[in-house]
Amino acid sequence: MDEKRRQLLTGISLASAGVLLNACRSASNSSGSATNEQKSEPAPGEHEPVEVTATEDLMREHGILRRALLVYQESATRLRQDPASVPPDTLEKAANLFRVFGEDYHEKKLEEVFIFPTVKKSPGAPASYVDVLLAQHARGREITDYVLSVTKGDRISAHQVDGVTKALESFVRMYEHHAAIEDTVVFPAWKTTAGEQEYSEMSEKFEDIETEIFGEDGFESALKRMEEIENSLGLTNLDMFTAPPPPK
Ligand SMILES: [Fe+2]
Ligand SMILES: [Fe+2]
Repeated sequence: MDEKRRQLLTGISLASAGVLLNACRSASNSSGSATNEQKSEPAPGEHEPVEVTATEDLMREHGILRRALLVYQESATRLRQDPASVPPDTLEKAANLFRVFGEDYHEKKLEEVFIFPTVKKSPGAPASYVDVLLAQHARGREITDYVLSVTKGDRISAHQVDGVTKALESFVRMYEHHAAIEDTVVFPAWKTTAGEQEYSEMSEKFEDIETEIFGEDGFESALKRMEEIENSLGLTNLDMFTAPPPPK
């Protein structure tokens, strides 16, 4: 990989978030015709960004992050079979997407500022989850730092495989449950506590924050980037994940 491009992708911050999320679009533009860059209409099969409410926004962001978890799980499985079968820069791109879209935006700008403080003060069981969820955010960032550090080289060596696969799989296990608790307990509690008017205002505010950080189509750009990562690992065919029939 070109060294400057690697530095861009690894030396990442929210300030460069829009650049990162748009990288896949720039890459595809550079290989397409010049006239494609002029168009403002969505391409066939693409959709205009749609308005979403606050919890729908948070949950579809979880959808992007779950797809990154699938990349982690598949990478761990392949690394065990053959360390050379996982290109480090693909894993690095997934970790960078998790950092920019998941940790620096979804966690730090939305959940930790608006969701958790309100839920923490609310009566009942949901408040008891908040400290654990915060600790898991912190542990996740440690693991992302580790993944970014081990994917700097041209390959993941055999002696790194055990540490990398354990880190990836423990991260997947933690974050799957983390997001499920947020979707089913924490977000509904926040919506109830906030009330109709505040919830409506927050839905607009979340869109404003997303636009401020990523531009007009932050979710769509993250989705495209995720698809590019999946494509490079051959994970785009949903049917390959259909379970085999059970024993008869
Ligand atoms: Fe979270
Ligand atoms: Fe979340």
